Amino acid sequence: MRSSSLLRLLTLVGMFVAFLLPATSAQASAPLREHAAARGKFIGAALATGPLSNETSYRNIATTEFSQVTAENAMKWDATEPSQGQFNFSGADAIVNFATQNNQQVHGHTLVWHSQTPGWVQGLGATAMRTAMQNHISQVVGRYASNATVVSWDVVNEVFDDNGNMRTSFWYNTLGQSYIADAFRAARAADSNARLCINDYNVEGINAKSTAMYNLVSSLRQQGVPVDCVGFQGHLAIQYGFPGDIQQNMQRFADLGVQVRVTELDIRMQMPRDTAKDTTQATYYRNVINACNAVTACAGVTIWGFTDKYSWVPDTFSGQGAALIYDENYQQKPSYTAVHDALAGGSSSDTTPPTTPGTPTSSSVTSNSATLTWTASTDSGGSGLAGYNVYREQGATDPQLGQSSTNSINLTGLTPNTQYQVYVRARDGAGNLSANSALATFTTQSGPVGGGCAAVGTVQNQWNNGYVVQPVTVTNSGSSAITGWTVTFTLPAGHTLAGSWNATLTTSGQTVTARNAGYNGNLAAGASTSFGFQVTRPSGDTQTPSGYTCA
Ligand code: G3I
Repeated sequence: MRSSSLLRLLTLVGMFVAFLLPATSAQASAPLREHAAARGKFIGAALATGPLSNETSYRNIATTEFSQVTAENAMKWDATEPSQGQFNFSGADAIVNFATQNNQQVHGHTLVWHSQTPGWVQGLGATAMRTAMQNHISQVVGRYASNATVVSWDVVNEVFDDNGNMRTSFWYNTLGQSYIADAFRAARAADSNARLCINDYNVEGINAKSTAMYNLVSSLRQQGVPVDCVGFQGHLAIQYGFPGDIQQNMQRFADLGVQVRVTELDIRMQMPRDTAKDTTQATYYRNVINACNAVTACAGVTIWGFTDKYSWVPDTFSGQGAALIYDENYQQKPSYTAVHDALAGGSSSDTTPPTTPGTPTSSSVTSNSATLTWTASTDSGGSGLAGYNVYREQGATDPQLGQSSTNSINLTGLTPNTQYQVYVRARDGAGNLSANSALATFTTQSGPVGGGCAAVGTVQNQWNNGYVVQPVTVTNSGSSAITGWTVTFTLPAGHTLAGSWNATLTTSGQTVTARNAGYNGNLAAGASTSFGFQVTRPSGDTQTPSGYTCA
């Protein structure tokens, strides 16, 4: 055989073997970055320059486990341009050099933010401020434009309030909303290859703030503004519940044509730690990774630090902490295992479905809503319990009535005076579904004759001293059209309204009266609309409004 023919044969054999073996498969025990790479995703960590230069354990884990890094503080404006025109890249360069040595990417954080920006910027007039912003972006992004390590930037950070209004930062107050488009254009001019992101917190689920973000990204892209990516920070807390619609939310952004990513994941708890809290935290971490795994346009997940030894949480939320995946002694926590297994797992490795949920029991049945609760399932297949699907038994095809990440659900939009037979199936991280639970049967109440009205409020989003109720769904549960509605409900003692949308709200003591806006009072029989509101509450008080009635 001629040597060229032999070479061709060997090449063909090699290609055949490569076809049989997954090119990027990772050993089960491999570090996080190998499993992430096998999925085509990154797994990142925010790094602090102090321990990076002082602590071997910190450096070793940062190197071994993560494929992307973000500077926790070193690339912010107060670090890079503390005085006008005086740039200092010592911390930023330390992070970039570390990443380059370890074959990691850097996500740049952050160019334009209301926090950690020196006073000299905040005091400028409009023209000077816009020029300073453009120059800062040009210098900082430009420094790393030809460096293949720095692949993306948070161009603007936290531009919204939690109610979806623009944050009235000094940027907005001085320049109006146009500073956002200008910042993206300046970043593109400085680096035509970097991926340019808008980043925020409390936008993981579908709520007023994430919808405002969605509308802004959509409108900027229609105007040709180079927004390539949306970052969901992911500062979660086990005591406030998991945003069960995170995957759906990421997907709606992906459908706009942008890349999505989780940029600052940490999941705090009230101290002290215990096994139950660790388990809940691990489930939340797993759910986030699984959501990113399930959305093709999700590039990866960055954890905001990795060791509880260095976390911003205890300094900001008194009495809370333990938010990361290694403890203060660099020992892996259950949350590490959850992240690892969610990255490593998948439909091929976990084929064991969760156990069958208990028989649901119904409560709070109204003319159009009902609450179901059941005994939780467990999952032993490795990918972990992800949530539950609730179905209506109807024969050949049973419609899904809803999804929940806990062992309870509030079903809305039901038909008055109708018998429902429902069952629940548990879902794991690999998509395996359990057997059907036994059936529960309930009958919705009669709707009023003529026009009627029912209201159900859902808490979408909570933080230490506030929350957003969105949507409050208002349904015409009667048999003829209505031309206006009034919803009343009660705020817990000490809670105060901080904003509202799509209705006019007035308060008398703790009683709130919400009247339709001019554009959403007319409801045909069976039709729904919604409004939302934001509340400030005493720190840590987890009560929520009650007693929604509608007339
Ligand atoms: O560097 C000074 C030091 O010289 C001084 O002695 C010390 C005294 O307090 O402060 C040091 O600065 C601190 C800095 O972190 C560096 O450690 C600041 O006080 C402190 O406020 C700052 O906190 C950072 C915070 O952003 C500031 O807003 C946190 O480390 C950082 O994790 C946090 O990260 C933000 C993201 O950038 C955006 N999203 C939310 C996230 C959490 O707040």
